[in-house]
Amino acid sequence: MAQPTFSTHVGMVDILPDEVGKWQALERIIHEEAKKFNFEEIRTPIMEQTELIARGVGQLTDIVSKEMFAFERGDDQYVLRPECTAPVARAFVEHHLEQRGGTQNLYYIGPMFRAEKPQKGRQRQFHQFGAEIIGADDPAADVDIITLMMSIYDRVGISNTSLKINSVGDPASRKAYTKALKDYFRPHLDEMSDISRERFEKNPLRILDSKEEEDQPFIENAPVITDFLTEETEAHYARVKELLKELEIPFEEDPYLVRGLDYYTRTAFELISPDLGAQDALGGGGRYDLLIEEVGGQHTPAVGFAAGMERLFIACDELDINLVEEEMLDVYIVTLGDEARKWGINHLPKLRKAGLSASMDYIGRSIKAQMKDADRENARHVIIVGGNELAEGKFTLRNMKASEEDSYSFDEILNKLTN
Ligand code: HAM
Repeated sequence: MAQPTFSTHVGMVDILPDEVGKWQALERIIHEEAKKFNFEEIRTPIMEQTELIARGVGQLTDIVSKEMFAFERGDDQYVLRPECTAPVARAFVEHHLEQRGGTQNLYYIGPMFRAEKPQKGRQRQFHQFGAEIIGADDPAADVDIITLMMSIYDRVGISNTSLKINSVGDPASRKAYTKALKDYFRPHLDEMSDISRERFEKNPLRILDSKEEEDQPFIENAPVITDFLTEETEAHYARVKELLKELEIPFEEDPYLVRGLDYYTRTAFELISPDLGAQDALGGGGRYDLLIEEVGGQHTPAVGFAAGMERLFIACDELDINLVEEEMLDVYIVTLGDEARKWGINHLPKLRKAGLSASMDYIGRSIKAQMKDADRENARHVIIVGGNELAEGKFTLRNMKASEEDSYSFDEILNKLTN
């Protein structure tokens, strides 16, 4: 009978040992930058109640209407989380995090799930890092979030990005704008794409995000939201721009920037890279002043961003950025014969307890094969143990880089390697 074959679900990939180094390096950078900005990590489950995501992200968005990995368990309906802002908002409300006082500055790293059509830079399981400031209305919070996002790309060495910003208004400005947009698009609907006709009924703002060629001439001349902002929203947006200028963070205003999630109010932004192809957004975010209420909390203004880690790595590849520092193994014990193997098994823990990374052969390979293995593992030192060494209590310590060796007792070796 043929052996069964198994593979990952389409659009989901294994991160294999040879690639894991860059993930760990990026995660280190994210933790370090978040610490500098005084953000605390939060980890939420990868599944959430469907209703939370539907209310939070928006019933009419592509994410909720087409891309959910949904399932039932008893009477409960769950989805694999497509993003982490609604889950963080839920955790904030559920655990009364406001009682900790001040604003909650939170960040996360983890897998998200969207059943999109996979292509370069677009997967069904992908990874985001993101941050949220919950409880601050001040434009300084918007700018702090943007600065944290930018500082991570700076540390990685990706600098040829463009930051696009917009204000998507508050509900009052959006109502007036939606009406103006509908009045504007209505006479052209026959010439526009099916998807835009559908969005016209359900969510006219999303027409502005259409990539369909036939829609472009109409989008180009569409009214802009910034003409419909209330005085207060306009003042907030002006202050965000002022602060970005003061901090010398370059940005472009894009009055047609609308995001694929419905919770945004006022500031919206995206970080675009020319190295990504069609899926050109490294990250994005904005303000979501009504979300906490939407998921059952008190009115609490908030702002945040999230960024795709796979897309960051694509940009790194294009720019020849290598995040991985060479991994070295401190010691490899090469053994000849059973007694030597026993010695090795006894002494490995002593090396590790002393803080060294150490390994040996477990499958009885020849000395030559063990030396090759030590090389492959990038060992700094090799301890060679055979019958003679055991009899004399002195072992050959070989410095692999310098190709030098000498004989020492185990204590002398330990001393040499730890000082
Ligand atoms: P988003 O724009 O949907 O925002 O996703 C943020 C980033 O995640 C995107 O810019 C992209 O880099 C990455 N991403 C999204 N979908 C995929 C995919 N299918 N494959 C690979 N990468 C992907 C949010 O998720 C919001 N929660 C951001 C936010 C936080 N807003 C406020 N706070």
